[in-house]
Amino acid sequence: MNKYKRYLVTSALPYANGPVHIGHLAGVYVPADVYVRYLRSKGEDVIFIGGSDEHGVPITIKARKEGVTPQDIVDKYHTIIKKSFEDFGISFDVYSRTSSKIHHKTAADFFRKLYDNGKFIEKTSEQYYDEEAQQFLADRYIVGTCPHCGNEGAYGDQCEKCGSTLSPMELKNPQSAISGSKPTLRETSHWYLPLNDYESFFKEWILENHKDWKTNVYGQCKSWIDLGLQPRAVSRDLDWGVPIPVDGAKGKVLYVWFDAPIGYISNTIELLPENWEKYWKDEETKLVHFIGKDNIVFHCIVFPAMLKAHGEYILPDNVPANEFLNLEGDKLSTSRNWAVWLHEYLEEFKDKQDVLRYVLCANAPETKDNDFTWKDFQTRNNSELVAILGNFVNRVLVLTEKYFDNKVPERNATTDYDNETIAEIPKIKQQIEESLDAYRFREALKETMNLARLGNKYLADTEPWKIAKTDMARVSTILEISLQICANLTIAIEPFMPFTAQKLLKMLNMPQLKWNSLGKTDLLKTGDTLGKAELLFDKIEDDIINQQVQKLLDTKKTNELNNYKPNAIKPNILFDDFAKTDIRVGTVLDCKKVPKSDKLLQFKINDGAGERTILSGIAQSYPSPEELIGTQVCFIANFEPRKILGTMSEGMILSAEDANGKLILIRPINQVKEGVSVG
Ligand code: MF3
Ligand code: ZN
Repeated sequence: MNKYKRYLVTSALPYANGPVHIGHLAGVYVPADVYVRYLRSKGEDVIFIGGSDEHGVPITIKARKEGVTPQDIVDKYHTIIKKSFEDFGISFDVYSRTSSKIHHKTAADFFRKLYDNGKFIEKTSEQYYDEEAQQFLADRYIVGTCPHCGNEGAYGDQCEKCGSTLSPMELKNPQSAISGSKPTLRETSHWYLPLNDYESFFKEWILENHKDWKTNVYGQCKSWIDLGLQPRAVSRDLDWGVPIPVDGAKGKVLYVWFDAPIGYISNTIELLPENWEKYWKDEETKLVHFIGKDNIVFHCIVFPAMLKAHGEYILPDNVPANEFLNLEGDKLSTSRNWAVWLHEYLEEFKDKQDVLRYVLCANAPETKDNDFTWKDFQTRNNSELVAILGNFVNRVLVLTEKYFDNKVPERNATTDYDNETIAEIPKIKQQIEESLDAYRFREALKETMNLARLGNKYLADTEPWKIAKTDMARVSTILEISLQICANLTIAIEPFMPFTAQKLLKMLNMPQLKWNSLGKTDLLKTGDTLGKAELLFDKIEDDIINQQVQKLLDTKKTNELNNYKPNAIKPNILFDDFAKTDIRVGTVLDCKKVPKSDKLLQFKINDGAGERTILSGIAQSYPSPEELIGTQVCFIANFEPRKILGTMSEGMILSAEDANGKLILIRPINQVKEGVSVG
């Protein structure tokens, strides 16, 4: 028995400091949307809450870098993100934002209530302060040398080179990222939520009563609880956020992780100003948070502790967090532009939202990190969506048009095989439900595709096109049953592929039916006229995929260039060490490729005293060696001669390697006499 009367489904509020990419969609928004569409189809009372998370230090840093205000930044990305979600059919009932008035008020009131009821402790500590900019420095605003690896560009919270988590006090040579000055230490006071007071509550609520949570979620909670919960600061010295609504808190705002989850509440109030409380304060509401794994502690421990401290709110029934999606083997990254951006995808794959929804759901990182590759995208499109789903529907519709003037034929005598096929449909329905109820979306999608597989197999086994001349009554039955399977598909695929469901409904000329019709085979009536048959999906060719792969390779190149760091300087030498090397200028008399080698060029050089031959491994950087004839080069004249591929090489030609690994010859900028020394 379901003890719940209604559902409140939230999905993590994305930071409004960049657009959204496939990782967001796969980890959070597709599963949440599938779940909500399924519940709506079942006729449940459900609301789906989304919005942008517009506070926090990274937004202020980006604004500073671009010379605009934080509000400018969030306005820009809120609009882009909201549109991406709309374009992909993520069916929020409300998509709002945490810079809104109503959110500021809701979050401030929430803080105030906890404050008035003595739920916080106040602590004073020393923090870095920028005397020039006259402000306290958030961890991210302090740069210094990492105590672990010596990286000079480590941040106060993390070293991106060696990955260690840091505290600002650990950094050597701390500097303010705002003014570049050396920060001083000043006392400041903050409010803390004493999570340690809730330890026994969490032990019971999660460790005892929520063994049903996904193992990755339960495991993370358990290790937090086992380590011992600590008080967490809920305020920050910053000028961007929700101002702390108590006296003496000038220059302080709510910590972004305190205000953001309250955004779920504010956005519900915005949606249902009169009615919101029954979704948040009634035990008969089932609250489910869809998030990525980096958000687990905030949604399973910090936010529930806040809700509990407040006293009026329900707690989540489940938090089905996903692991991460990688892209072609590498971690998705906004700053490295290593992503497939949703708005770009839609420009390049117009009207193919459902293909991406399908691939991301089929490959969702439910139990472990997963990899998105363009090859897999192509395969799933071509051999699943086109070959199974699209092909089945298309064959049924084309045959019905051909033999029955595009009208639903009648079902005559059925065979055992027909009946077995029909009996499979409610079984598939049950499988889909079991999977969705357990938040196993990959499995649910697979079951859904099994309905199309069932139809394909039925057609392949009965071969109506072969008996059209001899047994039209039989053809009629087969196509009627096949059409009922198509009608069932419109219901089953809708949560996953809402755009395709619409297309199919039009082709079948029928309205969208609810989940309880799934499993029935009287959804279409004999004599009903069908719509026009169209292809549901089309094949994606290699060149399209290759373009996408090339785009990523280009990104990799650009990143390598941007990240190019020169080698460390070698230990010092004295003049005598240097003087041992005899570097001279010569003129190239001849230059050609060395046969059987793709790296070597053979130079003939006028060295002032005569001619010498030098082999040099720069062939890939100079594909037309003849163009070097007549130019000058620098070479080491007293390099011990050695035989390479049967030729004596008498010296070494100097070149510099650029960030792409290309070798560039070194030469005097004006012509000099052959044989002069370099030094
Ligand atoms: N902005 C956070 C992130 O992208 C998620 C915030 S979820 C909320 O990781 F609950 F705080 F809203
Ligand atoms: Zn480091």
